[in-house]
Amino acid sequence: MRLQTQLNLAFTTLVLIVLAVGSFVIYSLILDLLVKNEESQLEQKGELLVQFLEENAYYNNSVEELEKFLNEQNLQFIVYDQTSDQVIMSTLNLNIVEGFYKEKYFTDKESDLWEFGESQFVVSKKSIDPNQTGLELVLLTPLTDLQEVQQSFISRIALVFIIGSLVAILLSYFVTRRLVTPLERLKEEVKKIERREFGDLKEIKSSGEIKDVALSVNEMGLELQRYIDSQQTFFQNASHELKTPLMTIQGYAEGIRDGIFTGEDMEKGLNVVTSEANRLKTLINEMTLLAKLDSEKSMVEQDQINLDELIKKVLDRIYPYAIEQDVTVEYLEHDSVIILGDEDKLLRAFLNIITNGIRYAKSHIGITVEEMKDKIIIRIVDDGAGIDEHIRPYLFHRFVKGKAGDTGLGLAISRAIIEQSNGTISVNNKPESGAEFILEFKK
Ligand SMILES: Nc1ncnc2c1ncn2[C@@H]1O[C@H](COP(=O)(O)OP(=O)(O)O)[C@@H](O)[C@H]1O
Ligand SMILES: [Mg+2]
Repeated sequence: MRLQTQLNLAFTTLVLIVLAVGSFVIYSLILDLLVKNEESQLEQKGELLVQFLEENAYYNNSVEELEKFLNEQNLQFIVYDQTSDQVIMSTLNLNIVEGFYKEKYFTDKESDLWEFGESQFVVSKKSIDPNQTGLELVLLTPLTDLQEVQQSFISRIALVFIIGSLVAILLSYFVTRRLVTPLERLKEEVKKIERREFGDLKEIKSSGEIKDVALSVNEMGLELQRYIDSQQTFFQNASHELKTPLMTIQGYAEGIRDGIFTGEDMEKGLNVVTSEANRLKTLINEMTLLAKLDSEKSMVEQDQINLDELIKKVLDRIYPYAIEQDVTVEYLEHDSVIILGDEDKLLRAFLNIITNGIRYAKSHIGITVEEMKDKIIIRIVDDGAGIDEHIRPYLFHRFVKGKAGDTGLGLAISRAIIEQSNGTISVNNKPESGAEFILEFKK
């Protein structure tokens, strides 16, 4: 069942139940209220009449005159004489009066509701000047009169019930429409994402939780688009990077096979083939590593690593390369600093950054470690020409490399490793020297 129908049904049922319970309660209370009200009205009327009769001493005149007066009042009444134990006048059917007499309503019973057979009456009994006469005036209202009032009340309640229900259904329709329309639009947007129509994504006007969900869906669409774009660029770059050395290898191999390169040229060609094959191997290794780092995000081991020992291990490994490039590497030791991460991988990240440094430095590289309250900062500074400004913003992206660049994957790998160890990496160009790589790790 559609959400709007479900909500409408739930809301309408709720309103109908509330109205039905309300009506039932009113219905069952209304007769009681009417009877109480009638009692007090009869009481008042009786009191006024008796007062009037006493003041004017009507009972001294003939019974006919009293009857005439009472008849003029347009009431149902009985006059009972206690002295003679007789009903002397009445507007009611004789049977009923006899019935009341037999039931001893005039003498013994103290009830405000007199019953005889089917008929019931609300009653008020008053003595007329008890010292002078034994007369009692009984005013009566048939319960059927009150039930009529009750019926007309009920038909009005029914009308209110029907109008109320209609208004409630209409209201529920509009409210649920407001609620459901953004959800339907959201469904369309999700379908667009499914069909990869990212350009068509539109903002949805809504409020509250639905707005939050709509924003998240939109954000998810954009993120997915960014991801797909980056994958596409990656494949384009990767195939380009793989194609270039392969074409060189193919060119030399065919030249040697066809006897175009001989002697010294052949020698040179074979050397190029070997070094390009090596480059291909490195490239493929690095691409595989990056893909692994991407997919293993949560599986990285978190060893406690002594940073000082780690840097010394890196220095041992780059030592021959530094000598070869005539670059001195100066490390200001800092004992007892521990960082969390995978030791082999972090070693590789540091090697990448420092090897780059040696490649681009004029003669010197400085490594410092600074311990703050909540983090550790490592700076690797060289005295080279610095990072080309046009690649600096994307330096840590894949296949981004400068003039003397190699695969362009080293720093992308380093960043992935450092981020997996809860760290960050950034780069600056120092005005007085070359590039400065800043690594920060949480303590
Ligand atoms: N210390 C540095 N000084 C100047 N440029 C650098 C330095 N380190 C890296 N770069 C630039 O960043 C590029 C990307 O480095 P990297 O990702 O390690 O790839 P690769 O070393 O394979 O070229 C390099 O090609 C180079 O242009
Ligand atoms: Mg490199």
